[in-house]
Amino acid sequence: SKTIIEPFRIRSVEPIQFTDMEERKRLLKEARWNPFLLKAEDVLIDLLTDSGTGAMSSRQWSAMIESDESYAGSSSYYKFDSAVRDITGFRHVIPTHQGRAAENILFSLMVSAGQSVIPNNTHFDTTRAHVEHKGGEARDLLIAEGYRPQTDHPFKGNMDTDKLESTIRDVGADRIPVIMLTVTNNSGGGQPVSMANIREVSRIARKYGIPFFLDACRFAENCWFIKTREPGFEHSSPIEIARELFSYADGCTMSAKKDGMSNIGGFLALNDDDMARQCRSLSILTEGFPTYGGMAGYDMEAVAAGLHEALDEGYLRYRIRSTAYLGEKLTDAGIAIIRPTGGHAVYIDAREMLPHIPSLQYPAWSLTNALYLTGGIRAVEIGSVMFGLQPDGTEREAPMELVRLAIPRRVYTQSHIDYLAEVVIHTYRQREHLCGYRITDAPSVLRHFSAELEPL
Ligand code: F0G
Repeated sequence: SKTIIEPFRIRSVEPIQFTDMEERKRLLKEARWNPFLLKAEDVLIDLLTDSGTGAMSSRQWSAMIESDESYAGSSSYYKFDSAVRDITGFRHVIPTHQGRAAENILFSLMVSAGQSVIPNNTHFDTTRAHVEHKGGEARDLLIAEGYRPQTDHPFKGNMDTDKLESTIRDVGADRIPVIMLTVTNNSGGGQPVSMANIREVSRIARKYGIPFFLDACRFAENCWFIKTREPGFEHSSPIEIARELFSYADGCTMSAKKDGMSNIGGFLALNDDDMARQCRSLSILTEGFPTYGGMAGYDMEAVAAGLHEALDEGYLRYRIRSTAYLGEKLTDAGIAIIRPTGGHAVYIDAREMLPHIPSLQYPAWSLTNALYLTGGIRAVEIGSVMFGLQPDGTEREAPMELVRLAIPRRVYTQSHIDYLAEVVIHTYRQREHLCGYRITDAPSVLRHFSAELEPL
């Protein structure tokens, strides 16, 4: 059959909250025009993130009931450890409460203030913040196609490997403690990285003796794109592709809130024995004993089961198809999105939609707020509010002004997506009435989470 249906049935449901336009205007104003500050119960369809918002399977829930909550050496830890090692092949697995905690441990040990430069295809905001917080410099070396929303390319998350080599030569290998690749490239549209690119980055890293780590949050979605787009992988299973992908790296950071199919959790995994010892010592300070990190035993059970569920072919086919379905509806209505659609989200090109709003009046923020006012939808800005503030306190326009509609895993049905498309298209037709915004108060790091704004 042609229709790809949700590969599950629903046994437990949660009501969602309907509000009218007047109420939403009041609520958003009370939230200082920042959707992060809304109460979730005032949101109808919440596409703020695909992180930790997924529905767990009955298998995950039953594993959670059977968890072992021992402080040290619990059986839940060993299940978690063996699931991670089965997929990644890395020798050491250090549990953390979420992805950024793994980043914190890794970069605390690797980054020297004023010295280190970290290349990545595109740093996610917390990754960049951790590098900069430790005094390092985060450099994004994405291929040029990755910055052109309207250009089709099967692997727009690829790193520009010529730029990587020239960066290593300019900066000096001794100042590059680690090379990172984010799979899929979240900040660049959820776009995948090809196996060929991963292999090439790995070859360069080894040539210069630099450790190579993956930011693996959405590794399973990346594997599906490799299977369906990269010649030679059509007959491989997602787990075989995942094992090959990880085999080229020396380690990874992972937020299990994405392709771990869990509400919380993460890990740092790596091969180097000495580095692992240092990471464990630091994790005791910030996370907890090395056999639980920041997680309860039941969290580790959920992740252990979830990592393999994320690699299920039926699930991945449905997952990637449902994102593409939304992308097609918006594209058919004339809305510019990052093409092709990525794995976990559709990204609307707000610079293209709202040319009358200058970047430093935050067009993508404006569209995000309009989607809430129009239909109770919460999306997230990935533009100049998120990335515009420079470490020296100045403001610069972000490379792209995007609104991300992130799709939680296994949560919304096709009719939710149809409704969502209607709201976006309606907003698009009213686009000339949207106005810019001004920031009235904001912290100096990760300002989008708590900034206060007002419409101009
Ligand atoms: N790396 C990437 C590529 C991410 O997308 C995220 C989180 C992290 C690292 C950090 O993981 O949240 O578990 O600490 N992304 C979420 C998002 C928040 O909405 O895209 P975390």
